[in-house]
Amino acid sequence: MQTFQQINPEDFNHSPFRIIGKEWMLVTAEKDGRANSMTASWGGLGVMWQKNVSFVVIRKSRFTKEFVDAADTFSLTFFDRKQYGKMLGYMGTVSGRDEDKIAKFALTVSHRNGTPYFEEANKVIICKKMFCQPLTPDHFLSDSIDTEFYKDKDYHDLYISEVTDILAR
Ligand SMILES: Cc1cc2nc3c(=O)[nH]c(=O)nc-3n(C[C@H](O)[C@H](O)[C@H](O)COP(=O)(O)O)c2cc1C
Repeated sequence: MQTFQQINPEDFNHSPFRIIGKEWMLVTAEKDGRANSMTASWGGLGVMWQKNVSFVVIRKSRFTKEFVDAADTFSLTFFDRKQYGKMLGYMGTVSGRDEDKIAKFALTVSHRNGTPYFEEANKVIICKKMFCQPLTPDHFLSDSIDTEFYKDKDYHDLYISEVTDILAR
């Protein structure tokens, strides 16, 4: 396996529509020495407040939210779909409240300046939280958002975070 190389954000030539929306990512953070991950396919990469940022949305019910809220930083990790598709599906349906998902798939946790990520990933984005706000129905400009995506009122919080490191193999 090639070693990770640090990539300039300007040279990161991967469509976020593909790598997030179609191939999915893990959101991982650490709390009290334990890491937890969940699959995410909504979010983005962009520029805000003169910084390169990620946009991630996490519903209030997610166990991972407790980890992201407890930490200053978290990682986004991307994987080969053929090899890790099953793992990404599992991480997106089972909660870390019920079992140690990272141990189940024997993923290797490494740290970048204290932020957990996975050696098995092919791309890693380290994020430092800058902003968190609940997405509330009074701000939806299309009626269908609330009825389509929030029938059970499990709203997302939006996190905007500085992209501090991008690693790729
Ligand atoms: C393809 C896919 C994409 C998902 N995207 C998100 C997302 O963007 N935000 C979110 O809150 N949950 C998302 N989920 C659901 C969580 O990954 C899922 O509820 C997970 O089991 C939460 O685990 P946790 O309780 O250990 O945090 C997604 C699930 C799948 C399968």
